Amino acid sequence: MQKMEQMYEGKAKKVFATDDPTLCIVSYKDDATAFNGKKKGTIEGKGVVNNRMSNFMFQLLEKNGIPTHFVKELNDRETLVKKVTIVPLEVIMRNKAAGSMAKRLGLKEGTELLCPVLEFSYKCDELDDPMVNDSHILAAGFATKEDLDTISSMSRKINEIMCEFFASVGVELIDFKLEFGRTTDGQIVLADEISPDTCRFWDIHTHEKLDKDRFRRDLGGVEEAYAEMMKRIGLL
Ligand code: TMP
Repeated sequence: MQKMEQMYEGKAKKVFATDDPTLCIVSYKDDATAFNGKKKGTIEGKGVVNNRMSNFMFQLLEKNGIPTHFVKELNDRETLVKKVTIVPLEVIMRNKAAGSMAKRLGLKEGTELLCPVLEFSYKCDELDDPMVNDSHILAAGFATKEDLDTISSMSRKINEIMCEFFASVGVELIDFKLEFGRTTDGQIVLADEISPDTCRFWDIHTHEKLDKDRFRRDLGGVEEAYAEMMKRIGLL
């Protein structure tokens, strides 16, 4: 597999073309941003944690019947993935109120929810990723009804698999963000990453935050939290 030109650079990853038009290489950086890039910093070793944890999670999900873009881990920071066109939606699943939902609805962080919440944001930095509902998505053509149904049911199943797995390692999955893409042969697959950047992880007993909120909120112990998550899932 030949790594070729850089196709794209995002806030946390770069994507490179390969000599196979159906495959790309993602390369995870240590750069950290929050609040749509208004806060910037570095989390030492984050690229390695996010690459390895994402690949571990994608393989766990594949075993449970969820199609993903994962093909092969190439090294600590780089992974071969299926080339996809990203559906321009951030899909957020929530099990307890936290972050923007806690703020918007005036709920204390950690408030129990009677059922999981599925939210969508339109991926658009200039607009600060506005929240949208099903009818906005269909009306604006961000996704078709069929794709939205696939994405919604996959997201709910992913939530069940992930909640059970993280509970088994003493971590409560508060909420997380997913992105989906369409492969060159037309299949909708889970893409992007699953990491402490994109999930809220709380220790089940102490409720200590083990995710990027430590960076967003200047809580300290950021690298230590990422390393603790790697230990919990058996990768360190
Ligand atoms: P929120 O409470 O700020 O809306 O975040 C919900 C979840 O989504 C949380 O686990 C963090 C994750 N997330 C991202 O991965 N990327 C983003 O740009 C944002 C705003 C949140």
